Amino acid sequence: MQKTWFITGASRGLGTHIAQAAIRAGDRVVATGRKRESVTAALGPDSDQLFAVALDVTDAAQVQASIDAAVSRFGGIDVLVNNAGYGHLGFFEENTMEDVETQFDTNLYGVFRVTWAALPVMRAVRKGLIFNVSSVGGLRGSEFGSLYCATKFAMEGFSESLAVEVKPFGISVTIVEPGPFRTDFLTPESLRVGVKTIADYDERRAMLRASFEQRNGSQPGNPQKLADAMVVLANEAEPPMRFLGGQFAVDAASAKLRAMQAEFDRWRDLAIGTDGDNPA
Ligand SMILES: NC(=O)c1ccc[n+]([C@@H]2O[C@H](COP(=O)([O-])OP(=O)(O)OC[C@H]3O[C@@H](n4cnc5c(N)ncnc54)[C@H](OP(=O)(O)O)[C@@H]3O)[C@@H](O)[C@H]2O)c1
Repeated sequence: MQKTWFITGASRGLGTHIAQAAIRAGDRVVATGRKRESVTAALGPDSDQLFAVALDVTDAAQVQASIDAAVSRFGGIDVLVNNAGYGHLGFFEENTMEDVETQFDTNLYGVFRVTWAALPVMRAVRKGLIFNVSSVGGLRGSEFGSLYCATKFAMEGFSESLAVEVKPFGISVTIVEPGPFRTDFLTPESLRVGVKTIADYDERRAMLRASFEQRNGSQPGNPQKLADAMVVLANEAEPPMRFLGGQFAVDAASAKLRAMQAEFDRWRDLAIGTDGDNPA
């Protein structure tokens, strides 16, 4: 059955590839981006399979208008892809509240806004799939990535909870956790770095910034292959709760799970001992 996809951040990177993969599979795509012309430049003109719509996920009115436009054009939404996002790099102490608010406004609140607007459409027909594009940084924290990881960890807790709430309506949620993929993610156009500096961090900041610059363009992950994998998942009767992207993510997630289990086991008796003997 031909599906309708609604994709945020389809002007570049993974979002463009997901739109192309869905179109190749014969589906219809509402491809959204901050600038409609960038979406059209990436994907071509509107057709019977493609509808480009302007959407900045930080703009609640535009979110509702874009969902309404999608429903008017294609009659519904089968697959929502919350993909729009960017990485904010910096040591936590060097970040500001403005950095925090801007990062959360796109990576988390943007997902909330779009999901709120799309859910009534999916609930009405008792079916749908929501892909929330998280990161391996949503499974484990990393130096220089506290704000980004905070948004992605939050997205994971949100997604797990939402999955339980919407299951009775036939709606599934899949968290996508890519490792490093070769998109614009690490380019100066996408990545943001805090401007506040503290001298104690100078040496490590310089080292980490150089390391991120070096990684740009040599990431092992192929966004076209990840997009094709998402099309496969969208056709599954029971899509997974989590889907890792690439070897790096598989190894990092497995190591994290092993370390967590070992630590829980090590402190098990002390943890269990905190139950009971409460005052009446
Ligand atoms: N590539 C990786 O290594 C990697 C790894 C883990 C997770 N991810 C996640 O994958 C997702 C896609 O990133 P990418 O790798 O494709 O990076 P990208 O090439 O930089 O693309 C990011 C996309 O998000 C859009 N965007 C940013 N802020 C937006 C906003 N406020 N409203 C609407 N769209 C907005 C950008 O639109 P503009 O063109 O308007 O800027 C662009 O289309 C992100 O959620 C990212 O966190 C990526």
